[in-house]
Amino acid sequence: MPLRLGDDAPDFTAETTEGTVRFHEWLGDGWGILFSHPADYTPVCTTELGAVAKLKAEFERRNVKVIGVSVDPLDSHHGWVSDINETQNTTMNFPLIADPDKSVASMYDMIHPNEDDKATVRSVFVIGPDKKVKLTLTYPASTGRNFAEILRVIDSLQLTAYHQVATPVNWEDGEDCIIVPAVTDEEATEKFPRGFTTIKPYLRYTPQPNK
Ligand code: BEZ
Repeated sequence: MPLRLGDDAPDFTAETTEGTVRFHEWLGDGWGILFSHPADYTPVCTTELGAVAKLKAEFERRNVKVIGVSVDPLDSHHGWVSDINETQNTTMNFPLIADPDKSVASMYDMIHPNEDDKATVRSVFVIGPDKKVKLTLTYPASTGRNFAEILRVIDSLQLTAYHQVATPVNWEDGEDCIIVPAVTDEEATEKFPRGFTTIKPYLRYTPQPNK
């Protein structure tokens, strides 16, 4: 059964390039990203892992920990990490799970047999501090993911979690947000001191509250 939004993110213990990780304990009370790679020494993943390493400060600023998973064993991961550092001009700074028995991949339904019954697709799970799944995303093996978009979604999720606003189509950081329907006009007046604009009773814009 695939994981859906709001489901509990399965816990696991796994060997990684940074030692043994007990997933929920490792996440602590912050946010997490778990993302899968078809296999080691594959070209697209090499670029993705390098790009994610370079975004470390962006993830830290948002209290997000990142962990990758690939079904190859740890010794293979270590060799690949050297290649990533060399070719992407970076230093890997987050753990990569070795999942040769595919236990993590199976738990998170990352193997899609119509694509490949041995390797994972390019899955992304964003996990909230409550250990619930907040975002699922599945890309084909041949398409590298857009981590700017993943950061954008995390910003949106955190605005909803902490400020009770949603984000409109193509929203970018700094643009106006939408007050969630659960907030009444009276509450909005108190909660959003910079005011709000009512286009329709269900469509109310306010400046981004954390800017
Ligand atoms: C990869 O880098 O994982 C990949 C590239 C082309 C086709 C399929 C996978």
